[in-house]
Amino acid sequence: MRVLDVGCGTGDDARAVAEIVGPSGRCVGVDASSMMVDEARRRGGPPHVEFVLAPADALPFGDASFDAVRAERVFQHLREPDAAAREAFRVLACGGRALLLDQDWETLVVAGAGRAATRRILNAFADRLANGWAGRNQYATLKRAGFDEVAVTPFFVTLPFGAAYALLLDDAVESAKESGAVGGEEAEEWVRELLAAHGRGEFYCAFGLFAAIGRKPPESQA
Ligand SMILES: C[S@@+](CC[C@H](N)C(=O)[O-])C[C@H]1O[C@@H](n2cnc3c(N)ncnc32)[C@H](O)[C@@H]1O
Repeated sequence: MRVLDVGCGTGDDARAVAEIVGPSGRCVGVDASSMMVDEARRRGGPPHVEFVLAPADALPFGDASFDAVRAERVFQHLREPDAAAREAFRVLACGGRALLLDQDWETLVVAGAGRAATRRILNAFADRLANGWAGRNQYATLKRAGFDEVAVTPFFVTLPFGAAYALLLDDAVESAKESGAVGGEEAEEWVRELLAAHGRGEFYCAFGLFAAIGRKPPESQA
């Protein structure tokens, strides 16, 4: 199988896919960041994995040149997700499948602080991304691009306080302050409340991820 990993980052998933398809197959990782592509190339891999600098909405590949396309935690960053989905459709062979895996950041729940500030801070976090609702929108994104047999599997991930704070909540506070959703004092109070909840062993954080799969119909035009 020929597999394309869109938004491959440092290439770990592309290397894992290359192992699955074996040397008779091929896995190409593309990323719009030259830093990511350089690092992916530096980390290397078997001869049938390669890394290419390209944006998701202008893939430098011919029509029908892959059997499967995947994009993990990428569509949330795209201003034009429909254009990227159309490109995934174009480069897929008929009958091939695309997988989009993304968070929907408005499913982020945090227990431990007051409701009003929590809502404002977490909404600011979701809104700071180009496509913070990627998760819920994947079903329609794939359908509009021409995919059929579209199926979405939602699931939730929980994070302990340290990881939640380092990966999400610190950013959320900064996004909320920058957008004016909360003032500095309110933000500090929010963090204090969460720390206190953590101290009592009552902090809880979770968010939703959505895995959407669609098929390019067997008899479709590229
Ligand atoms: C959160 S990382 C995910 C990396 C990898 N897919 C993973 O799951 O570990 C998002 C990646 O998408 C890339 N990206 C963002 N916008 C892109 C675009 N328009 N076209 C291609 N890649 C893009 C970023 O450079 C980054 O490497």
